[in-house]
Amino acid sequence: MLDELRSIRQEDISYSRVLSSMCTIPHPTAVKAHELFIETNLGDPGIFAGTWKLEQKLIGMLGELLHNPNAKGYICSGGTEANIQAIRAARNLMRRERKIDRPNIVVPESAHFSFEKTGDILGVEVRRAELDEEYRVDAGSVESLVDENTIAVVGIAGTTELGQIDPIEELSRLALDFGIPLHVDAAFGGLVIPFMDKLYPFDFELEGVTSITVDPHKMGMATIPAGGILFRDEEFLNTLIVETPYLTSRHQYTLTGTRPGTGVASAYAVLKQLGFEGMKHIVDECLRVAAILVEDMTALGFEPVIEPVMNVACFKTEKAEKIKEELYRRRWVISTIRNPRAIRFVVMPHVTEEVVKNFISEFNEVLGCLD
Ligand SMILES: Cc1ncc(COP(=O)(O)O)c(C=O)c1O
Repeated sequence: MLDELRSIRQEDISYSRVLSSMCTIPHPTAVKAHELFIETNLGDPGIFAGTWKLEQKLIGMLGELLHNPNAKGYICSGGTEANIQAIRAARNLMRRERKIDRPNIVVPESAHFSFEKTGDILGVEVRRAELDEEYRVDAGSVESLVDENTIAVVGIAGTTELGQIDPIEELSRLALDFGIPLHVDAAFGGLVIPFMDKLYPFDFELEGVTSITVDPHKMGMATIPAGGILFRDEEFLNTLIVETPYLTSRHQYTLTGTRPGTGVASAYAVLKQLGFEGMKHIVDECLRVAAILVEDMTALGFEPVIEPVMNVACFKTEKAEKIKEELYRRRWVISTIRNPRAIRFVVMPHVTEEVVKNFISEFNEVLGCLD
């Protein structure tokens, strides 16, 4: 039977040929921690009291990184769940404070599709604000879409397609002026931006930021699933509470019931072992390799859509889909974006300089075939 599993697994593409994913090979320490916690269930924290304590410690570490050691939250299935829960908390809070019956949220045009799901599940209208020429959300456009039924504004710190960072400082002022929550989706950027040399204020140091999505299973090199949702204070988390009569705990604020402790353990282990200093080395290396990729692609005649801000790079080409298909046929995975038409690369820790060199040499052949 194990042979069957091994053989099926061979059909998957190895990470060493994947330049499109925001996930990566888990850190070896994460794998060990995962194994140690394999049977844990945080849905019943009275039984897994140690694992629950570890989750609180991890939330504290992430809070410290994001300028609020007192942040409250939990480790969830990923950025999608974190975004749903952030908007659900905002909706519940605003519903209580202001009688809103047709709620809406204002998100950047560049927001991840998880906000579509969020709107659908919660019955919240999703309004999309325009971007400026650098693909950052235009604060004026956001302001024009906010009305008395707006329950939250969303900013993205590390957009999925371009790795761009919205002007969160401006959104924070706007949210404070309107007295509404500001959720920052830093699913990807939350474990990149704090370690970059250039400063981009995006987290709880900005007074208007009320919640942040930050996923250890992306740049945190934890085992999947390990997403993160952090709230500025307990008031938001408490709006999510439901009673849990037959469990060891009396209430639950999570979306899922049964949930693994493996993400908590693996994320904690990586952060504890590497420390913020070690994480900075990882991010620095990804940025260095991303710069090599940009140099090599530019030498081949491609123009970046924006000067990469983090370890995501997109290059304009009308042949984006064709290139992606031909590369996939050769078991290389890249992705594409539609506006503008471009090919997209995410330089995760598994995308080493050697991977980039191998890719570029085969990409050269592909370009020859397409002409
Ligand atoms: C900015 C952003 N938010 C949310 C998500 C969704 O995360 P997940 O796939 O872990 O649910 C992603 C995924 O890439 C993302 O880039």
